[in-house]
Amino acid sequence: MSKSIPINNIHHVAFRCRDAEQTRWFYEDVLGLKLAAAMSFDNLSGTDKKIEYMHIFFEMVDGNYIAFFDDPYNAPEDFFVDMNGFDSHVAVEVKSMEHLKAIESKLDSIGWDSFTINHEFVTSLYIFDPNGIQLEFTTRASDHEKIMAEDAAKAHQEIKAWTSRTREMKVKKFGEESLTKK
Ligand SMILES: [Fe+2]
Repeated sequence: MSKSIPINNIHHVAFRCRDAEQTRWFYEDVLGLKLAAAMSFDNLSGTDKKIEYMHIFFEMVDGNYIAFFDDPYNAPEDFFVDMNGFDSHVAVEVKSMEHLKAIESKLDSIGWDSFTINHEFVTSLYIFDPNGIQLEFTTRASDHEKIMAEDAAKAHQEIKAWTSRTREMKVKKFGEESLTKK
């Protein structure tokens, strides 16, 4: 293994949104994040390709961002449906169960559906934002570090076992070449 380069943290994750103002309402007014930037463009950044879009950023406590593109001329009409969380979701962390409950109540007060799952190492509250993005609010259990250390110790071995169970069907489905591309 080559010497590892420290990758610190997520700077931003970015998604497509239906409407910058609707998304601002949800992230700023409902969830209380700071609207950190809203930039509109006539050209694709760094090119002369004509495209009118807006890029917005919401800032979390640690200074990292959740960002969106409002690109109405190119957004497929049927794009904004609730995503399968396995395809993509974003988990943001809150300090305590109390904070998780406070978010749940806030969402309840506007009639926004949410559900909670206790995953043992964390407890998470799940919602879909107005764009269909699954957003997970998560808080660590008191033994989070212990559980993660146990998981880390067997992680390579688990992947090895999983690969031997599933590789054959994946070769049939995706082709050998796509699975060995490195
Ligand atoms: Fe998750």
